[in-house]
Amino acid sequence: PESGCLSIVVLGASGDLAKKKTFPALFHLFQQGFLQSGEVHIFGYARSNLSDDGLRQRIRGYLKGASDEHLSQFLHLIKYVSGSYDSGEGFELLNKAISEYESSKNYDSGSYRRLFYLALPPSVYPSVCKMIRSYCMNPSSHAGWTRVIVEKPFGKDLDSAEELSAELGKLFDEEQLYRIDHYLGKELVQNLLVLRFANRLFLPLWNRDNIANVQIVFKEDFGTEGRGGYFDQYGIIRDIIQNHLLQVFCLVAMEKPVSLKPEHIRDEKVKVLQSVEPIKHEEVVIGQYDGYKDDPTVPDDSNTPTYASVVLRVHNERWEGVPFILKAGKALNSRKAEIRVQFKDAPGDIFRCKKQGRNEFVIRLQPSEAMYMKLTVKKPGLEMATEQSELDLSYGMRYQDVKIPEAYERLILDTIRGDQQHFVRRDELRAAWEIFTPLLHDIDAGKLKSVSYEPGSRGPQEADEMSKRMGYVQTHGYIWVPPTLS
Ligand code: BG6
Repeated sequence: PESGCLSIVVLGASGDLAKKKTFPALFHLFQQGFLQSGEVHIFGYARSNLSDDGLRQRIRGYLKGASDEHLSQFLHLIKYVSGSYDSGEGFELLNKAISEYESSKNYDSGSYRRLFYLALPPSVYPSVCKMIRSYCMNPSSHAGWTRVIVEKPFGKDLDSAEELSAELGKLFDEEQLYRIDHYLGKELVQNLLVLRFANRLFLPLWNRDNIANVQIVFKEDFGTEGRGGYFDQYGIIRDIIQNHLLQVFCLVAMEKPVSLKPEHIRDEKVKVLQSVEPIKHEEVVIGQYDGYKDDPTVPDDSNTPTYASVVLRVHNERWEGVPFILKAGKALNSRKAEIRVQFKDAPGDIFRCKKQGRNEFVIRLQPSEAMYMKLTVKKPGLEMATEQSELDLSYGMRYQDVKIPEAYERLILDTIRGDQQHFVRRDELRAAWEIFTPLLHDIDAGKLKSVSYEPGSRGPQEADEMSKRMGYVQTHGYIWVPPTLS
């Protein structure tokens, strides 16, 4: 039953994630007509003592591009309930508020749907989930459902993640739990399946015979400002690589699923994760930018990496011998995320005069979503010379009238519709932690040291050297410039 009265509860309503991502995503869904006024109510829950209007004021500034009328209609749907995260009282109040709203709707025929979004630190997940389970479930006399969205970090290593999974697993069925990895909501990440399996062109090429190496890269041009305390507990591998980049890796490397059913897709992801070999220390570079420790919330002797480049090797028929280089860093020279598939050299090269660059297929996840294929072409003109050029599908040019939805928007809508395809299954999470836990423990124990790098640079030189060792050939004298509308 995907229709009927819908209550969306944002727990941690006054926090950063809720303000910056959750409420704006709900607002965009509302604007596009996915959340109908008569059918939806939104409850914010947090510890702070706030009025309904107090909460509305707090989030108002984050809701951009709206007419005043639209905005006030949306804000009008929001109610605030305050309470703690571990006592029954607050959750009883919350349940009362939800039930009152539900009965005011007098929905005889429809179903009742309760969606809980935990925009909270994971340390309180178990207690909050217990409270929801004890006080706020959709009553069994009602048709409908109760679903819970949780955000990473899901644990800090294999054991803590399993412990968390077990605790939540006692309270909710896997079908009720939606583990968000917002990278799975990005347009070009969602496109990977189509690209790979709907195009004859790629099918025969996508393997060790043709592909030399794959890089999955995340760069940010700002540091950990304001969240050093959180970040230092986790580091870039737990913050970005073990989840966001590994999810992208799965979609690039997995075999073709039996069908598009969420379980079929997730089965393939688990399989490829289980084929990843143990990470070798000599195939890892970690770095920390100069100035990171100036943050008063970061300990002076922190070894926490703000940059890491990690090589994954897949032990199967398709990928044996192909390095997958997963790279992520904060405080670098640019902000972007991309997948770079580098093909082997063309054998029997006859254009000896000039070294040909390699073919590369690049999927730019953000900003300026694009896919481009780097090719060698004849340099236009009278001479017979070659140069690097590209076949370019830039979304801004090709889809001028399309607004690409935000990741959170899509994922919340999926949850309402009950589609778990773009969410992380429990066994998938386990397989992901199995890959990174030994390395993380070694870093935590100081067995690998972060090398320092300049903020605003490409990151540690050692990482570029390692990519070269992995067989990555950088093309010089060519740069792709995202086309712009004149
Ligand atoms: C979050 C990380 O999951 O993703 C942040 O905790 C990071 O450190 C963010 O900045 C990046 O997301 P996006 O969508 O801006 O690439």
